[in-house]
Amino acid sequence: MSAIIETSGLSRLFKQNRAVDNLDLEIQPGELFGLVGPDGAGKTTTLRLLAGLLYVTEGSASVAGFDLRTQPESIKPQIGYMAQEFSLYAKLSVLENLRFFAELYNVSKTEQKERTERLLTFAGLTEFKERRAVHLSGGMQKKLALACTLIHQPPILLLDEPTTGVDPVSRREFWNILTELHLEGTTIIVSTPYMDEADRCSRVGLMYAGKLMVCDTPQNIRHQIEGELIEIFPDNWQAAHQIVSTIPGVLEVQTYGEALHLLVEDGENQLPKIETALKQEGIHINGARLAPKRMEEAFISLIRRIESEAEEIADE
Ligand SMILES: Nc1ncnc2c1ncn2[C@@H]1O[C@H](COP(=O)(O)OP(=O)(O)O)[C@@H](O)[C@H]1O
Ligand SMILES: [Mg+2]
Repeated sequence: MSAIIETSGLSRLFKQNRAVDNLDLEIQPGELFGLVGPDGAGKTTTLRLLAGLLYVTEGSASVAGFDLRTQPESIKPQIGYMAQEFSLYAKLSVLENLRFFAELYNVSKTEQKERTERLLTFAGLTEFKERRAVHLSGGMQKKLALACTLIHQPPILLLDEPTTGVDPVSRREFWNILTELHLEGTTIIVSTPYMDEADRCSRVGLMYAGKLMVCDTPQNIRHQIEGELIEIFPDNWQAAHQIVSTIPGVLEVQTYGEALHLLVEDGENQLPKIETALKQEGIHINGARLAPKRMEEAFISLIRRIESEAEEIADE
């Protein structure tokens, strides 16, 4: 199968700043691709480039078989782009917003009527169709924005942090909708700061300083990280952090609230040793267990590795 999105050396500079730096990416039809990376990594710029909203500085890209530089007008009907920031018309109602976007994309009146009803049901907004966008909850605004990007039935969706700042229930509902679209065959690129969401993608790309550093399935990314995971709930996590960091065989320590996540060489063998070491230092443990590695640990570990490599290069 040939790629539906393909970029080669794609770069975008803002003055000297390489916001997107030499990006080579291939997305197959029907993929649910997650774009992750710290703030400023270049996720938004990548999505805006693919949506044809920014000029390409270097390199090339094709979207749905059209060249991004020379055929942007042919690409437009093929994609639905949802911006990171609020993109609705605040004073217009739910229905009026949908109508506005339908007209923007030349959706015929009969199609509009049929699709509007379906999308309202799909997004759980039927009851609220007369409400102004500004008066919807954050989660409902995101679902309406998604419905507006779907009104012209694009085969490709580019969604920029569609669930950031949304409550957990709405976040789950939003992802149920994405999963349905994915099952229907829509190609989706979604950026997200949430690692549980990245875990639901078929592939994940990790961006850092404009570059795509890692691009693989969530499972392979989790397995790239060395060691096994031990989760500990000590009563004094700051002191516990210092102690466990010095234990041989502990590769990495991450904090999650008051819990410590340790990557260790041999979990089964080391768990009792770590517990003993903490108890000897007078630290009470409210729980400790071996746990499966998640995207979250992998992400933090990869970013740390990338940052320390960048520092080494800077020091040379
Ligand atoms: N319109 C712009 N003008 C100047 N610099 C920009 C602009 N948009 C983004 N940048 C810069 O490009 C880099 C990548 O930003 P962005 O793509 O928004 O990252 P992310 O979405 O991953 O947070 C950042 O250094 C940011 O400051
Ligand atoms: Mg962004």
